[in-house]
Amino acid sequence: MITVEHLHKTFKTGDGEVEAVRDVTFKIPDGSFTAVIGKSGSGKSTLLGLLGGLDSVTSGSIRINDHEMTELHDRKLTLYRGRNIGFVFQSFNLIPNLSALENVMLPMEFAGVRRKERCERAQELLDLVGLSAGQQKRRPGKLSGGQQQRVAIARALANRPRVILADEPTGNLDSETGGQIMTLLRRLAQEEQVTIILVTHDMELAKQCDKILTIKDGSLQS
Ligand SMILES: Nc1ncnc2c1ncn2[C@@H]1O[C@H](COP(=O)(O)OP(=O)(O)O)[C@@H](O)[C@H]1O
Ligand SMILES: [Mg+2]
Repeated sequence: MITVEHLHKTFKTGDGEVEAVRDVTFKIPDGSFTAVIGKSGSGKSTLLGLLGGLDSVTSGSIRINDHEMTELHDRKLTLYRGRNIGFVFQSFNLIPNLSALENVMLPMEFAGVRRKERCERAQELLDLVGLSAGQQKRRPGKLSGGQQQRVAIARALANRPRVILADEPTGNLDSETGGQIMTLLRRLAQEEQVTIILVTHDMELAKQCDKILTIKDGSLQS
C-alpha cells in the first residue's frame, strides 16, 4: 500500500515560490494500476518525483509498505529506491552505447547481482516484454521507439521493484504502439503484482487504469 498524506512541494525560484503539489492525500493498493492525469504544469511529474524519492518533500508523508520515505536520506534513500522502485520515462533514457540486454543488466550490477544471474534475468525480462533474441543484442539506436520503451520497462523491473513509476511512457509513441505499451504495463500489474503509477494527459489511457487521480494546479480533484 502506498499512503500519501498532506503532501506539499514548493519550489523556490528567483521571482518567488511555486506550489507544485498542494495538500495531496491518497491511498493506492498493491498491484493496482493508477493514472495521474492533468494538464501540463499541473504538478504530475513533481508528484511522481516525490513518490520515487527523486526530490525532497516540503511537508507531508509518503509511506510505501510502512516505510516512511520522507525520513530516508542520501545512501538509505538511494538503496531503498534501487530495490523498491522502477522508473520509466517518456524519453526512454536508455544508455546508447550498451545493448538492450546490457541496459537491463545494469541496475542488477548496482545491486550486486552476479554476472550470470544478471544475464539470465535480463533475458527473461526482455522475453517477457516481447523482444526477440536478435533485438536484445542491439543498441537502443537500432530499435524502434516502442521496442526501446519495452527495454526501459524490462530495466525498471530488473531488481523486482514493488512499484513502477511511469511518467508519460507513451508520450513519444504513436497511438498503436502506445496502446501495446499500456497493455504490457497492465499485464505486469496483474501478473507480477507490481503497483504501477502512470502519469498521462490522455484520458483514453487513464480510463484503462483501476483508478484515476486528477490533479489541477497541484491539488487533487475529487
Ligand atoms: N525544479 C523546479 N523548479 C521550479 N519550478 C518547478 C520545478 N519543477 C517543476 N516546477 C514547476 O512546478 C509546476 C508543476 O510542474 P510539473 O510537475 O513538471 O508539471 P506536469 O508534469 O504536470 O507538467 C510547474 O509550474 C513547474 O513550472
Ligand atoms: Mg510532466
